Amino acid sequence: MDIQPPEVLKSPLVVPAKTLMGPGPSNCPPRVLQSLSLPVLGHLHPECTKIMDDIKEGIRYVFQTKNELTLAVSASGHAGMEAVLCNLIEPEDKVLIAVNGIWGERANIMASRYGAKVVRLETAPGTNFELCQFEDAISKHRPVLLFVTQGESSTGVYQPLEGLGLICEKYDCLLVVDTVASLGGVPFYADRWGVDAVYTGSQKVIGAPPGITPISFSAKAQKRIFNRKTPVKVYYWDMTILGDYWACFGNPRVYHHTVSSTLLYGLREGLAMVAQEGIENVINRHKQCALRLHDGLKAIGVELFVSKESARLPTVTTIKVPENIDWTLITAYAMKHYFLEISGGLGPTVNKVFRIGIMGYNATNDNVDFVLRVFEEGLDLAKNKSSKL
Ligand code: GLV
Repeated sequence: MDIQPPEVLKSPLVVPAKTLMGPGPSNCPPRVLQSLSLPVLGHLHPECTKIMDDIKEGIRYVFQTKNELTLAVSASGHAGMEAVLCNLIEPEDKVLIAVNGIWGERANIMASRYGAKVVRLETAPGTNFELCQFEDAISKHRPVLLFVTQGESSTGVYQPLEGLGLICEKYDCLLVVDTVASLGGVPFYADRWGVDAVYTGSQKVIGAPPGITPISFSAKAQKRIFNRKTPVKVYYWDMTILGDYWACFGNPRVYHHTVSSTLLYGLREGLAMVAQEGIENVINRHKQCALRLHDGLKAIGVELFVSKESARLPTVTTIKVPENIDWTLITAYAMKHYFLEISGGLGPTVNKVFRIGIMGYNATNDNVDFVLRVFEEGLDLAKNKSSKL
């Protein structure tokens, strides 16, 4: 052999148990973890395709939609963005992207790569958009598509969506919503709100591992995909073929790629747990935990990054880094002493905020109290430049 077996692979795998209170992934519940050790199935075995059918039902429930074209793509939540934009955009299409954090920026980059003429609608990080801003921009630019992020995990901002679908419909503009960090933490009604394409993360409130992403397209969006003048640029994301693998169009299933049955199990069980609890109860639990966290942070004396209360995303709380504090000392302290993940900022909030995530299985009072206690401890030590850090 030219290359010898690597030394590092001679010892068995060891993974520490951490409490993941960053912006995701969250800890998988035991039921999900157990499902991940079930035997691997073939991607066209009837037991596997039955699980895919169950998952479609679960996704329709969490998105509150009857959309035919509803499935999970084999990649992380970010791929949901890629898949939606890649299917709905043709070269030279004008698209409007709402940018108030990293996800709008990313959508902008992706849409440009698919040949779109991008118009940016911007508001400062930490704030959300008013409905009239959308209407002004849509009526002025007449885009084929509007992209909005319901939960900006980089800034901790929640974007209300009620009424937006009607505006989009009035101007024949498709409404695309990123709910990766928000779904299950705030209400979402794809059909009632007139959303044309939506995706979410499996690894946040749903509590499955990352790597498999729920996605759904309205009948109008589906029609647009089937009537494209040019083929979808990425075969892997092409919904006209992928939809047949997921039996969305009433045709016999056609092989598209080898889905990970293991990830299907995890997603199926995560969705089953949400369905069992009832999504309205899941949302309420997240809201209560977020309020408890915000009260606790206020008592500690730190300031939230999002000043308008109604714009705060319950699943991801952003906290301003106090002056003269090295935030990395606190996140490192939490990890070193408690195996607890607290994150720093991302995109426009790098070095400006801490991010604490409350998602899925982790959304409990005990976890909120735990993260508050450790955060306060770390902050005190950092203020006092303690050697215990
Ligand atoms: C990922 O979703 C993040 O916000 O870091």
